[in-house]
Amino acid sequence: MIRSPQLPRVHLFVCANVRADDNPLGPGCGEAGERVFKLLKEESLRRGMVHQVWVTKTFCMGICPKRGATVARHAEDGRGIFRDVDESDAITLLEDA
Ligand code: FES
Repeated sequence: MIRSPQLPRVHLFVCANVRADDNPLGPGCGEAGERVFKLLKEESLRRGMVHQVWVTKTFCMGICPKRGATVARHAEDGRGIFRDVDESDAITLLEDA
């Protein structure tokens, strides 16, 4: 095992988990997560931040929102989990990076 020296300043994990509409846990972040993930990837590339900000798509993190997606933010300045994230919130997460 070799430890990589490359670390991001911020790592955003975006849930895009999909469940059936009749699942008692709700439909999951699904399409909202896909939209947030795509926007974060495109915007971080456009801003030249891909080395500082890593964006990873995940499955359920156990904090399932009624709307939007759940995003976990791991950064040098702390960690946090945000739920009900939509596209406009995603830009804020990038601007805080
Ligand atoms: S389905 Fe996204 S956090 Fe559970």
